[in-house]
Amino acid sequence: MIPTRRLDLRHDLTPAQLLQCLASGGLAAVPTETVYGLAADATNGDAVARIFEAKGRPTFNPLISHVADLAMAREHALFDETALRLAAHFWPGPLTMVLPLRPGSAIHPLALGGLSTVALRMPQGPLRDAVAALGRPVAAPSANRSGRVSPTDADHVLRTLEGRIGLVVDGGPTAQGLESTIVRAETDRIVLLRPGTITAADLEAATGLPVVRRADGERIDAPGQLLSHYAPHGSVRLNADTPRAEEYWIAFGAAQAAGHPPERVFQLSARGDLREAASRLFAALSAFDSPDIDQIAVATIPTEGLGEAINDRLRRAAADR
Ligand code: TXA
Ligand code: MG
Repeated sequence: MIPTRRLDLRHDLTPAQLLQCLASGGLAAVPTETVYGLAADATNGDAVARIFEAKGRPTFNPLISHVADLAMAREHALFDETALRLAAHFWPGPLTMVLPLRPGSAIHPLALGGLSTVALRMPQGPLRDAVAALGRPVAAPSANRSGRVSPTDADHVLRTLEGRIGLVVDGGPTAQGLESTIVRAETDRIVLLRPGTITAADLEAATGLPVVRRADGERIDAPGQLLSHYAPHGSVRLNADTPRAEEYWIAFGAAQAAGHPPERVFQLSARGDLREAASRLFAALSAFDSPDIDQIAVATIPTEGLGEAINDRLRRAAADR
């Protein structure tokens, strides 16, 4: 057990505190525009090992390294024209690119899971400021115990990591609520490895290249893309029309749960807005993640645009464990 300090981003945190934590090899949970990240110096093997330990990540699943600017990114990865175009268009922002590792990169092999590629992202907000101050990439998976729901506020981080990390920077709820879109850029196409709030259509519009999904049979690039993930304690039934009496209900759009007890209903977006639903999805799964809740049902969410990422997370939450 280590005491976890919680510092409010606006009122309590001085930039030096976060920098000092990272520079000394410590772990800090820090908000980004997507979810809270569990940050550590990506070039420090001990610090990276502490991430795996705190999360209870069963295998050395590679981590995303966060950069402050394109110059830092290019010290650690090789960018082709498509990757540069994507960076210019979407960074800072919720896009992660899997790129060939630049020989000589100081990112610790443990953060890479032994791969010869590296996942890089330039985030928005206090994490980017901290990376700039540190002057080195910062590894940051989502700040939750492995396999559990990704955190979109500080309470949510503390639920699974209190006593395991030194610092939580409380910046309130995150803006987008789903992890970044992950892509691998190829010469004539973009492979979508994890859908997110930057959609396939956004990627096509920015590059003029077709986006292909990772085919089901294709080798899994990283263990983090295995099916069961984001699991709450109870079972999850998807694409439900209405909840059964015993179920907790994650609703979307016009109420289809007349008479269901309100404390058993979490509305993702009453007006049927996918952006709002994306930002509230993990809060919903987390609200119903309790040993006392056996059965959760989720309304049908459209699959277009942002709905692809929402349905991806829901399928993983519902998968057999
Ligand atoms: O929004 C986000 O991406 C958040 C914030 C904190 O930035 N981070 C995040 O990290 O979601 P994490 O560790 O929970 O997810 C990283 C994913 C994993 O599925 C991992 O397997 C994959 O990225 N990954 C990392 N390096 C990879 C690589 N070289 N090739 C393919 N996949 C990789
Ligand atoms: Mg995660």
